Amino acid sequence: MKEDLWCYVKVNQDHSFERRRLDTISYLLICWLLLFSSAGKAAAPNLGTWMNLGVQGYEVWRNPQLYVVGAQPLCTQIPGLSPGQSKLCQLYQDHMGFVGRGARQGIAECQWQFRNRRWNCSTVEDSTVFGPILNIGSREAGFAHAIAASGVVYAVSRACREGQLSSCGCSRASRPKSLNKDWIWGGCGDNVEYGYKFTQGFVDIREREKNYKRGSLEQGRSLMNLHNNEVGRRATIKKTRVTCKCHGVSGSCSLVTCWQQLSSFREIGDYLKDKYDGATEVKVNKRGRLQVKNPSYAIPTANDLVFIDESPDYCVQNQTLGSQGTSGRPCNRTSDGMDGCNLMCCGRGYNTQKTTIKERCKCKFHWCCHVECKTCIRNVELHTCK
Ligand SMILES: *[C@@H]1O[C@H](CO)[C@@H](O)[C@H](O)[C@H]1NC(C)=O
Ligand SMILES: *[C@@H]1O[C@H](CO)[C@@H](O)[C@H](O)[C@H]1NC(C)=O
Ligand SMILES: *[C@@H]1O[C@H](CO)[C@@H](O)[C@H](O)[C@H]1NC(C)=O
Repeated sequence: MKEDLWCYVKVNQDHSFERRRLDTISYLLICWLLLFSSAGKAAAPNLGTWMNLGVQGYEVWRNPQLYVVGAQPLCTQIPGLSPGQSKLCQLYQDHMGFVGRGARQGIAECQWQFRNRRWNCSTVEDSTVFGPILNIGSREAGFAHAIAASGVVYAVSRACREGQLSSCGCSRASRPKSLNKDWIWGGCGDNVEYGYKFTQGFVDIREREKNYKRGSLEQGRSLMNLHNNEVGRRATIKKTRVTCKCHGVSGSCSLVTCWQQLSSFREIGDYLKDKYDGATEVKVNKRGRLQVKNPSYAIPTANDLVFIDESPDYCVQNQTLGSQGTSGRPCNRTSDGMDGCNLMCCGRGYNTQKTTIKERCKCKFHWCCHVECKTCIRNVELHTCK
């Protein structure tokens, strides 16, 4: 059992966190002191998720003056953080606004990618962010973990570049070998190396704090989360590319400088959505490792999402499960896809509402300079699931 006793709080000079492998006694003494001393009610079961930094915690970091009550540190007032995350939050207060921003961006991208699906990544008003539905180790849960982690890498990497954090600056990535010899490497790049490291420390720590029984379902879920967090972090790095700019008199391009630049977050979302479609079902074995459930399938790489539970069908509302159901959701009568009424409404049928839309049309441009339009009335049918 010894190798399960990780304590993740040693912070290095370069602000990376180091895993410390400790024997049982030191673990109990050192880790408990470090992790649990200032985290208050740390030992209570933690139902929330750190992604709450992007929801309820967001206001706290935007207006910290409203939330500092006496000597109570800010970090203890954000529900959802694990004891270790609460500790890191205190050590890296200036990072937390960006962690929140990253989580928020991840959630928004999730909602966009899943807007036409039965589970649409909707959030609830508590620190679990997505509600109990993500307690199921489904592909959806895998996607949510990955996109949130990639959002944090994204936000922190950019914050470094913009000089908003005291512990990092422009990327110090080495010059790509294939870069044209005449071009200058050295513009200020997004610091994905730092973003990756910080996110790894912060997001994964909660999975390392508990000692699950080897081979148990809980351990399997924890391994699944760790795997998918890594997929998300790598996605941000994978999509980062070299960008160059011309300088010189009237665009002569006599001088070219290049740097490392994050892609758009949409690109990362699209990439992870593909990974969601190709996710691999795994299970935890007796040795406490994940293995592919169906041996004839390929072993997932560190870039592939994994899941351990089949998804529910998300058709009907079920409070216990946390499923909102699809009743009332808009659907497309002519589509064969997930957004089609047939699949979206799970065969229950749909209601049709006829409405008219007024819109500007037949616009003419008059010289010079105004545009004249007519108002057209268009009949549309809106379908919503029964
Ligand atoms: C909700 O889901 C749970 C777990 O799958 C199931 O046991 C229960 O019967 C469901 N409740 C309703 C009202 O469908
Ligand atoms: C998701 O679906 C629910 C109904 O199931 C709806 O109330 C909500 O507005 C939708 N959310 C988004 C972000 O589309
Ligand atoms: C509905 O689906 C059809 C076929 O996929 C598509 O051509 C059409 O644009 C969709 N309509 C809307 C309103 O999204």
